[in-house]
Amino acid sequence: MNQYNILLDPARMPDAWYNINPDMPVPMAPPLHPATLQPVGPEDLAPIFPMPLIEQEVSMQQYVSIPGEVMDAYRLYRPTPLRRALRFEKALGTPAKIYYKNESVSPSGSHKLNTAVAQAYFNKVSGINGLTTETGAGQWGTALSIACSMFNMSCDVYMVKVSFDQKPYRRSIMQTYGANVFASPTDRTDFGRRYRAEFPDTSGSLGIAITEAVEAAVTSGGALRYSLGSVLNHVLMHQTIIGQEAKLQLESIGEYPDMVIGCCGGGSNYAGTAWPFAHDKIKQGKNIDLIAVEPTACPTLTKGIYAYDFGDTGEMTPLLLQYTLGHKFVPPPLHSGGLRYHGVAAQVAHLTKLGVMRAVAYQQNTCFDAGVLFARCECILPAPESSHAIRAVMDEALKCKETGEAKTILFNLSGHGHFDMSAYEAYFSKKLEDYELDEEAIRKAEADIPKVPIPQ
Ligand SMILES: Cc1ncc(COP(=O)(O)O)c(C=O)c1O
Repeated sequence: MNQYNILLDPARMPDAWYNINPDMPVPMAPPLHPATLQPVGPEDLAPIFPMPLIEQEVSMQQYVSIPGEVMDAYRLYRPTPLRRALRFEKALGTPAKIYYKNESVSPSGSHKLNTAVAQAYFNKVSGINGLTTETGAGQWGTALSIACSMFNMSCDVYMVKVSFDQKPYRRSIMQTYGANVFASPTDRTDFGRRYRAEFPDTSGSLGIAITEAVEAAVTSGGALRYSLGSVLNHVLMHQTIIGQEAKLQLESIGEYPDMVIGCCGGGSNYAGTAWPFAHDKIKQGKNIDLIAVEPTACPTLTKGIYAYDFGDTGEMTPLLLQYTLGHKFVPPPLHSGGLRYHGVAAQVAHLTKLGVMRAVAYQQNTCFDAGVLFARCECILPAPESSHAIRAVMDEALKCKETGEAKTILFNLSGHGHFDMSAYEAYFSKKLEDYELDEEAIRKAEADIPKVPIPQ
């Protein structure tokens, strides 16, 4: 009898998030205030985030307890299944063993709810009743809308214009949960108005939407705070519930991965899956290949510049040491909206720089090829973002076919693609364009990135 699903007893669901910061082989460089170039303090972040999240951002505690109310919200859909992709393995004819965490079963359809619930909760207990945010593909906006409705909070979502147009039903689902959704750049913020005047035909970007959402929070007279769906340390930490569960599930069948693979936009899905294993690599010397997968249209880790840069286009956020294509970079309108971010989480950049992990980049058509094969085998329609991970898994499994190695591969299926059918339609009708970053974009990035010395 084939064992497809490896389920975790709900009583064994981890009750703490794993914080990788104390385990970093070399400490990370601090975020800097753009005006003073000094490390930012809690008071600088207080108009944007509530204090418990600021404390998590700088915490050096290895495990941070998950509050009871967040655990209770997690129990709606966690532990998520770990599945052996037996049918996919068979189709590839590989001796590799492929396992995936299925985060697409969450009520929002992706991993994003893991941090949305936590962020809404910590805002609520800090007396905040409304949040602003950006969304690319709409997965994050959906997750935060659900979390805000759970905690009876308002939710204003600045949705990147190209996704707003491509995915009308994402908009409707956010509205179902009570959110207000705006196509970014909007005329609701100073920055949005200025950007539209300068670039009337813009398709928008996550960087622009972040500026608008931050501006809306800081000009709300204290009523609203801002919530970010990726990049920051605390967001990545909330996602470690994925990797921790996966580890217990693999352990229950006597397995341990040789490779952990995840798609990477801001880095939260990848880090959430990989960091509990990065811990074993750093602390116990485990031989494990950690691979982040990004699009060639927005190849932050594979072609970006390692530098201090802003997290947003309007230069409102602190400077973070990261790989970046420049905060003014507007990625081409590829269909993986969640991977269209100019930068990446500082933790991911740091561990890439140190060689603890590595990154690869793929064109979107080849990712859809893999995603469609996966769907036909596993009967789950992957989000285009997740298809990037599937492509890399497929290539690693095909390498195993050549060498005869039976490697164990773990990846995270970060979300389903039920709201991405216009992307699938473009793919099937051969209208999906592939994009490659050109040299001019790199030169522009070099010019746009602030000249800030990197601590040695
Ligand atoms: C399904 C899915 N996977 C992955 C990502 C990438 O984001 P991150 O790198 O923060 O996980 C997104 C972002 O929206 C997403 O919707």
